[in-house]
Amino acid sequence: MKFGEGTISVVIGGSSGIGRALALSLETRPGRVIVASRSSGLDVGDIASVERFFTDIGLVDHVIFTAGSSAPGGPLVNLDFDTAKTAFDVKFWGALAVAKAAAPHIKPGGTITFTSGFLARKTVPGTLIKTAMNAAIEAVAKILAVELAPVRVNVISPGLTDTEAYQGMEPVARKSMLDQAAATLPARRFGRAEDIAQGFLFVIENPFVTGATIDIDGGALVR
Ligand SMILES: NC(=O)c1ccc[n+]([C@@H]2O[C@H](COP(=O)([O-])OP(=O)(O)OC[C@H]3O[C@@H](n4cnc5c(N)ncnc54)[C@H](OP(=O)(O)O)[C@@H]3O)[C@@H](O)[C@H]2O)c1
Repeated sequence: MKFGEGTISVVIGGSSGIGRALALSLETRPGRVIVASRSSGLDVGDIASVERFFTDIGLVDHVIFTAGSSAPGGPLVNLDFDTAKTAFDVKFWGALAVAKAAAPHIKPGGTITFTSGFLARKTVPGTLIKTAMNAAIEAVAKILAVELAPVRVNVISPGLTDTEAYQGMEPVARKSMLDQAAATLPARRFGRAEDIAQGFLFVIENPFVTGATIDIDGGALVR
């Protein structure tokens, strides 16, 4: 898939972290990049506004969903269902709302790319909501790759990546988390947003990739 002056890419969640790194990379290519998130007025939890958003844009080539990084942690016995459902509303139902609203507007050769996370397939006690949301995204993407063909549908699954998602952490704890990842992951580094952005570019540009989940996790799943 070649980028041309008429190529339109939409990054939902492109105001921060992985989405912003991808938007910056896309901006170095020909065409237009549209970034949307709550700070620009689009809350993906509001399905009607997602539909209006894509109707207003018209035809697009590539739609990338990186929105929503927060999810409650902890064991089931402490689970707050309201917080868990809100996380699903953004990351899972938001992704589906975007795909549903965008699909009729995607040009031939276009793509939809979702974001999951290594916890989709790694058993870590206390992460059941992230695991469930990410696994659900990976599962539906395969179905959508068939239902929406010839639009290509893929998933990028990041490992621990230093982004604004962790800005609420105490700085020493954040550094320690990242240092530990760098010391123990087979790749001997923690992820940078740019590392993950490269994966999105790969699935967007390679016309033979669809229904795929690409792990960019420093080897977290093989450790
Ligand atoms: N960072 C990691 O270690 C890691 C690991 C595995 C998976 N992931 C996944 O990678 C994706 C991106 O994570 P990140 O680290 O780049 O997170 P981030 O820096 O926190 O960025 C999240 C983005 O989502 C947007 N967003 C949040 N709620 C939204 C809503 N209701 N409607 C529209 N936009 C919304 C935010 O913008 P506004 O605040 O303006 O809405 C922001 O642009 C997430 O799916 C995350 O689960 C990240």
